[in-house]
Amino acid sequence: MKERVAIITGSGRGIGRAVAEKFAGEGARVVIAEKDESAGREAETGINARVGSTPAEAFFVRTDLARPEDIERMVAAVVERYGRIDVLVNNAGIGRSASPYDLTLEAWDEVIAVNLRGAFLCARTVARVMRENGGGSIVNIASTRALMSEPNTEAYSASKGGIVSLTHGLAASLGPDGIRVNCISPGWICTGDYDALTEADHHMHLSGRVGRPDDIARACLFLCDPANGFVTGANLIVDGGMTRKMMYDA
Ligand SMILES: NC(=O)c1ccc[n+]([C@@H]2O[C@H](COP(=O)([O-])OP(=O)(O)OC[C@H]3O[C@@H](n4cnc5c(N)ncnc54)[C@H](O)[C@@H]3O)[C@@H](O)[C@H]2O)c1
Repeated sequence: MKERVAIITGSGRGIGRAVAEKFAGEGARVVIAEKDESAGREAETGINARVGSTPAEAFFVRTDLARPEDIERMVAAVVERYGRIDVLVNNAGIGRSASPYDLTLEAWDEVIAVNLRGAFLCARTVARVMRENGGGSIVNIASTRALMSEPNTEAYSASKGGIVSLTHGLAASLGPDGIRVNCISPGWICTGDYDALTEADHHMHLSGRVGRPDDIARACLFLCDPANGFVTGANLIVDGGMTRKMMYDA
C-alpha cells in the first residue's frame, strides 16, 4: 500500500476509522471522506500524529454522500492533491428503524441516497480516475443484513442487498479497465465498548466472539492487495460464522 491513495468514506469513526488507520499503517495516503466535521478532523489529526514523517498521511475532505456535488468536489480535491486514486472503500452507511407501515418516504430516500446511490456515485467518479492510471480496487461495505433481517429495517436491508448486486455489476463493467470491485458483509462488529458485551453475545458466533473493526480492516487490505487480483465480484462474509450458526438455543 506504500504511497497508494485510498479514499475511505465515513472514516471519522467506527469501521471506517479502523480501515483508514490500517491503510495508513501500511504506508497509504488515506482520504477521510466524512460528513461529520469534528470526527473527520479528529481522525486526520490522530492518524497524522501516528504516522509521523513517513509518506503516509491522512487528508480530511468534508463530504456528505447524500449530495452528488460533494462527491464530485471530494474526488476533484483528491486528484488535485495526489494526481491518482488506487483504492476506494465505500464504507459510510446509515440506518432508519421504523415499521414498514410507518416508514416515511424521506427516511427511505435518505437511507438509499447515502448507502446505495452514494456508493455508486463514488465508484463511478473514482473509476474515471482509476482507469487513467491503470486500474485500482473498490470495496463496498454491505452487511449480513443483505441476507437476513430483524423487523423494521427494510430500508437498510434493501440498501445492503443493493450493494451486493451493485458490486457484481460494477465488477463486470469496470473489469476491462483493470478495476476490481468486491464487497464485504460484516456481521456484528462492536464499535463501542467491547468490555460491555456479554457471554451470550459472544456465544452467538461460531468464532466465540463478537467482531471488532480491525477484523473488517484486515479483510479490506486483503481485497485491495494487487497480489489478490483474481478476486473480483465477491461478497466476503466476515461475521464470525453468525449467519451459519443454528440458533435452536437462542
Ligand atoms: N457495526 C456493525 O455491526 C456493522 C455490521 C454490518 C455492516 N456495517 C456497515 O459498516 C459501515 C460502517 O459501520 P459503523 O458501525 O462503523 O458505523 P458508524 O455509524 O459508527 O460510522 C459511520 C460513519 O459514516 C459517517 N456518515 C454517515 N452518513 C454520512 C454521509 N451522508 N456522508 C458521509 N459520511 C457519513 C458517520 O459520520 C460516521 O463517521 C456501514 O456501512 C454499516 O452499514 C456495520
